[in-house]
Amino acid sequence: HSQDAEAGETVFKKCKSCHQVGAGAENRAGPVLTGVVGRSAGTYDAFKYSPSLSAAGEQGLVWTEPLLVEYLEDPTAFLRTRLEDGKARSGMSFKLKDEQDRKDVVAYILAESST
Ligand code: HEM
Repeated sequence: HSQDAEAGETVFKKCKSCHQVGAGAENRAGPVLTGVVGRSAGTYDAFKYSPSLSAAGEQGLVWTEPLLVEYLEDPTAFLRTRLEDGKARSGMSFKLKDEQDRKDVVAYILAESST
C-alpha cells in the first residue's frame, strides 16, 4: 500500500504521549498536529518551539506530506540540513525509522485534520 490512514492510527499511538490531533486537540509536551500539513513549521498557537524549528518556519518551511515523512525519520538531522547549521537541534528527540510507518502516520494526521 502507498499510504494508509487506518494503519497510521496505530502508528500514532507512538506519538500520543506528546501529541493530540483532531477536533479539540490541545498542546501537550508536543504541539497540536491538527492541520499541520500546509502550516508553517513551528507556528501552532501558544506552543513554545525550539529555536531551530522556529527558525526553519521563519525561513519559509511549510509542512507538506513528503517533508513531514522526511522530518519524522530524524528531526534534528532534518533541521541541520534545512538550516545548513550543524548545531541545530530539534525539540523532538523521537524518531520514526520505518518509512511506511511515516507515510501512514502522516496520512492519518491529514485525515484527522478534515473531520
Ligand atoms: C514537533 C509529529 C512523536 C514531541 C512535531 C512536529 C510534528 C510532529 C509534525 C512539528 C509541528 C509543528 O511544526 O508545528 C510527530 C509524530 C510523532 C511524534 C507524527 C509520532 C510518530 C513525538 C513524541 C514526542 C514529541 C513521542 C515527545 C516525547 C514533540 C515536540 C515538538 C514536536 C516537543 C516540538 C519540536 C521543536 O520545537 O523543535 N512533532 N511527533 N513528538 N514533537 Fe512530535
